[in-house]
Amino acid sequence: MSFPHDFTWGVASSSYQIEGAHDVDGRTPSIWDQFSRQPGKTFEGHTGDVACDHYHRWAEDVELMRQHGVQGYRFSLAWPRLLPDGTGAPNEKGLAFYDRLIDGLLAAGITPWVTLYHWDLPLSLHRRGGFLNREIVDWFADYAALVAQRYGDRVKHWMTFNEPQCTIGLGYQEGLHAPGWKLPFADCLAGAHHLLLAHGRAVQALRAGCRGPVKISIAQTSRERIPASAAAADIEAARRDYFSCTDRAMWNLSWWADAVVFGRYPEEGLQAFAADLPEIRAGDMALIAQPIDFLAYNCYSGWFVRAGANGTVEKVPGGFGPGNARGTLPWLQVAPDAAYWAARFQTERYPGLPFVFTENGVCNTDHVLLDGTVPDPQRIDFLARYLAAIRRAGAEGVPLGGYFYWSVLDNFEWSEGYKDRFGLVHVDYRTQRRTPKASFAWYRDTIRAHGANLPVLPPQTP
Ligand code: BGC
Repeated sequence: MSFPHDFTWGVASSSYQIEGAHDVDGRTPSIWDQFSRQPGKTFEGHTGDVACDHYHRWAEDVELMRQHGVQGYRFSLAWPRLLPDGTGAPNEKGLAFYDRLIDGLLAAGITPWVTLYHWDLPLSLHRRGGFLNREIVDWFADYAALVAQRYGDRVKHWMTFNEPQCTIGLGYQEGLHAPGWKLPFADCLAGAHHLLLAHGRAVQALRAGCRGPVKISIAQTSRERIPASAAAADIEAARRDYFSCTDRAMWNLSWWADAVVFGRYPEEGLQAFAADLPEIRAGDMALIAQPIDFLAYNCYSGWFVRAGANGTVEKVPGGFGPGNARGTLPWLQVAPDAAYWAARFQTERYPGLPFVFTENGVCNTDHVLLDGTVPDPQRIDFLARYLAAIRRAGAEGVPLGGYFYWSVLDNFEWSEGYKDRFGLVHVDYRTQRRTPKASFAWYRDTIRAHGANLPVLPPQTP
């Protein structure tokens, strides 16, 4: 029982969460610069102005990754660094930064996996309506063409968007993330449609502009369902619930993924949302359904579901029991089988594509002890449990492509600021000193062993 020989062991990050240098070398503000400056929007008013200062310390960070032995590094490009007005004239200094980073990674033997958009929309484009303006399809396509032309000789792994569910759900519907809008559902569906069209055009631009074959996807997320038992009825209930599309929220995985893979919105959603549907022009769905090369998925937690009476589906009340292990963010229940079922359900529904965990991780309040170490046994345990569940999926035939731990460094956790630490490497934000945590060594050894050190665990039950 082991991982495929070409499985990529990686770590992940995103531009606004680590780079800092918010006004350096021609970068202009993004929606997160604006949002985090508004009182009450982030924990204690934290911003990404400095973050991990990765913009200046990237070489040290790449060296840490080299020492670690990680094979892939997923990071995102800051659109406002590359195109300060969002469109038009590129910023050479911004472009040169990612040249340095990509070259440094390749020299360290690390494959870059690049996300085009991880939530830092140029403010200038937000002022023109952001995702509500259908012109974003052209803006994003031009941005994708620029980066393909610049980095496409060296970068072969691409993701267009990170978690569209959060971009529109948290940003446009719930108002918890930038730009902090609380829009009617119809506007959210319109923004979602434009985002998906932009994804399709970006896939085309990347294929056209990169040299040689490339692997492209869009990193999705959702709310994972774990069957309460191995009974067929519970498995079916969990599957149905996972792909159901009736909630007037943006977390419906199938609304996004069916569109991308099948070129159609799920029938259930089309009926449930009939009164709020966006304008879908001829050719739109075919554009959205550009072939992709892998399923990219960010997986953190989940909950138990079982078959109820008369064909209904029930969330198991109090599923994990009181006091279940979790990260410092309450939603982050330790639910390793969420990863098993996400991979299995998705590769069954969307067959023929390898499944890559583009994010998985846990946050805590890790700190540097007086002896200079950062022990983080909970994170090691979390990793062992999730990786064991992922390996089980692989052993049962799920095609696995890779795993990227979120995150390589502690970083700016959006509205939670710097209080929750996800990193394998501790960052002291006053000094910018990096200290690898115990999990850094554990994950390094696990990569060396190609997972042979992982425990064999029984399925999780309520
Ligand atoms: C996001 C990351 C975030 C992580 C932990 C994911 O939703 O892509 O940017 O830091 O979850 O909350």
